[in-house]
Amino acid sequence: MSKPKVFVTRIIPEKGFEIIRDFCEVDLWQSELPPTRAELLQHVQGVDGLLCLLTDKIDGDGMDEAGPQLKVISNHAVGFDNIDVNAATARRIPVGNTPGVLTDATADFAFALMMAVARRIPEAERYVHEGKWKTWGPMLLLGVELKGATLGLVGFGRIGKAMARRAVGFDMRVIYYDPNETKPDKDIRATRVDFETLLEESDFISLHTPLTPDTRHMIDSEALSKMKSNSVLINTSRGPVVDMDALYEALKQGQIFGAGLDVTEPEPLPMHSPLLTLDNIIIVPHIASASHTSRNMMSWMAAQNLVAGLKGERLPNCVNPQVYK
Ligand code: DGY
Repeated sequence: MSKPKVFVTRIIPEKGFEIIRDFCEVDLWQSELPPTRAELLQHVQGVDGLLCLLTDKIDGDGMDEAGPQLKVISNHAVGFDNIDVNAATARRIPVGNTPGVLTDATADFAFALMMAVARRIPEAERYVHEGKWKTWGPMLLLGVELKGATLGLVGFGRIGKAMARRAVGFDMRVIYYDPNETKPDKDIRATRVDFETLLEESDFISLHTPLTPDTRHMIDSEALSKMKSNSVLINTSRGPVVDMDALYEALKQGQIFGAGLDVTEPEPLPMHSPLLTLDNIIIVPHIASASHTSRNMMSWMAAQNLVAGLKGERLPNCVNPQVYK
C-alpha cells in the first residue's frame, strides 16, 4: 500500500521527523527560509497531510490548492494564528498544535528577559566590550529589582501560571488579567484584576496571550501611558500584541524603564527599525521555546498529530475539535 504524502515546511528535530519518515512519503522543505506563498501552494498540491510552522500562512485557498484529500494540518507550535482555523473546520480538516511541552522553556525565557532588562545585562556587556569600563561606580548602570515587585501577567494559561510559580521564588506579588480564565488554580498565589489595574499596578508586565482580533495591539500608546515609569514590558507571545511604534515612543521618552521582546511585528524585525537604536530594549529572534528538550517534544507532538490525522484518528492535540462532531 502506498504511503500518505505529506509536505513538511522545514527541517524539524529528528524525534518527530523519524516518526513522519517511517509512516509517510515526505516532501521536506530544506531551505533556511520558509517557502514563499507560491512555493507553498505548489508543494501542498495533492498532499494528505501538512506539517507547517508559525511562519507559514495557511488559509482556505491553500487548503483548496492541496485538494479534498487533505486530512490534517499539524502546526509545529502551540500558537496557531498562522492558520485559518475556521477555514479548516469548514472543510472538516483537524488542526493540531503542541501545547504543554514548551511551557517551562518559555516561562524560563520570559524570566531571563525580565532579569536581563531589569539589570541592563546586554547594555553592561556592550559597555565592557566597547572598552568603557574604567572603574567601579556607585551610579553605574543602575537597574530595578524583582524582589517585592508586582508582576502583571496578561494571559493566565499554562505559561502565565508557570510565570506565577517562578515569581514566588523572587517574593513578587502576582496579578493577572485573563478574560477567558474560568477556573483559578488554588495552588497559585495570584490575584485576578482588570486590564487597567494591571497596567497601573505592575512593575513588570509579561504577555502570555494568543494573538486574536481582541489582543492585536492591546499594548498601544494608551496602555503604555498607564504603566509605571520604572516598569518593564516583556513579550514572548506574538509580536502584534504590542504596537511597536507606540513602544518605541514610550521607550524613547523614558515613559517606561525598558522592554524585552522575543517576538516582534514583523518578524524578522528589519535592521532599520528605530527600536534597534535604543539601549533600554532587548530583542531576540523568537527563541523562547528554543531548548533542546522543548523543541524535541514539539516535533514529536506535531508528528503524533500528523500521523493520527492521516490514520483518520482523533488528533492528540486538536484546536478545532468541532470537526469530530
Ligand atoms: C509557539 O509554539 O507558538 C511558539 O511561539 C514557538 O516558540
